[in-house]
Amino acid sequence: MSTFKAPRGTYDLIPPVSATFLAVREALAAPLKRAGYGYMETPGFENVELFARGVGESTDIVTKEMYTLTTKGGDQLALRPEGTASVLRAALEANLHKGGNLPVKLWYSGSYYRYERPQKGRYRHFSQVGAEAIGAEDPALDAELIILAVDAYRSLGLRNFRLLLNSLGDKECRPAYRAALQEFLRGLDLDEDTRRRVEINPLRVLDDKREAVQQQLTGAPLLRDHLCEACKAYHEQVRELLTAAGVAYQDDPKLVRGLDYYTRTTFEFVHDGLGSQSAVGGGGRYDGLSEMIGGPELPSVGWALGVDRTVLALEAEGIELELPAPTSVYAVPLGEEARRALFGVVTELRRAGIATDFAFGGRGLKGAMKGANRSGARFAVIAGERDLAEGVIQLKDLESGEQTPVPLASVAEELRDRLG
Ligand code: HAM
Repeated sequence: MSTFKAPRGTYDLIPPVSATFLAVREALAAPLKRAGYGYMETPGFENVELFARGVGESTDIVTKEMYTLTTKGGDQLALRPEGTASVLRAALEANLHKGGNLPVKLWYSGSYYRYERPQKGRYRHFSQVGAEAIGAEDPALDAELIILAVDAYRSLGLRNFRLLLNSLGDKECRPAYRAALQEFLRGLDLDEDTRRRVEINPLRVLDDKREAVQQQLTGAPLLRDHLCEACKAYHEQVRELLTAAGVAYQDDPKLVRGLDYYTRTTFEFVHDGLGSQSAVGGGGRYDGLSEMIGGPELPSVGWALGVDRTVLALEAEGIELELPAPTSVYAVPLGEEARRALFGVVTELRRAGIATDFAFGGRGLKGAMKGANRSGARFAVIAGERDLAEGVIQLKDLESGEQTPVPLASVAEELRDRLG
């Protein structure tokens, strides 16, 4: 072991588990690729002000959890704690919204950073696959995204997840609700921090997990009862479209989420096998975010699914993904001359699209065959000088143990046939 360890709240992805992680990432993105979303990549850090304005000055993410740094040039940057603000910033910068073809639909996948208290399922470095549909107000778009997330989870075989759904209203109805909620909350017995939150961001108090606070919230006014007609009708359409697509949801009038940009549709996917860090994904509509970061009015909606927690959800349900073996063929040379010849065969097989590995390091036959078995390969190709002099290699089926000589010139063809 070296003297160094992975930083607190982080972990390394190591084979073979890393293969599951990669497959999950691909499975979460697959439905998006089939639905017209284009791949997007943005830098791992941004101007700190983007998140302060976008995610919200009073959120935990901005006040406590950002990794900020000042560059040698004096710029104030932050490692990205989430993807939405960055993707919208990049879309505006590239004028994607001016192409006349709205919504602009984008997906992304990568690392995010939050200085949180680490525990199982909550890390300081984690992975998301996300999607944003920018520049359209259409309940079918909200429904589309939710359905794509559900299809992604289902494609992995997950069953024990639930969709929580709410509407947070818009700039017409939210202010009056906010005032009514504030009035209610001011009458409660709350600690100083929470009283401060009542003044800055009262909706977040609804999300307080503490029993003592939750008890007092019985009878709190709910946004559901204060939605304007337009928001009510919009939400009803989203619900109808989900039902028509066979997507079950639970109305959760207290779902507020930890980022300030949300309007109207908000949702979270929770998994029942994960304990306290149960949110495997979440998202919603953010009709005002573009203006908040200096852009034009661009109503938008999106989500991000947590890759780390989706892997944990698979474990909780005892699901093992069927992954192709990393190596199909393992080459074992017997002797120095055979090494050179067989190394050439390995290159040829790889170029023919067959996943092939080689017994490196001059191990003896026994050690090399052990390597072949450990690699998970289906076949070994073995050759000594006598085989090569006869123009063949020995093809060994590692499941049945059966071994047959195959002419050198047709090894690739033979293997392709046998591997199907
Ligand atoms: P979020 O709810 O903050 O939303 O994060 C989405 C998902 O990322 C969570 O449901 C969780 O699975 C995962 N996640 C978040 N923090 C951690 C952590 N510390 N450790 C492990 N996993 C974590 C957003 O990030 C929004 N940008 C989603 C969105 C996109 N809204 C609209 N568009």
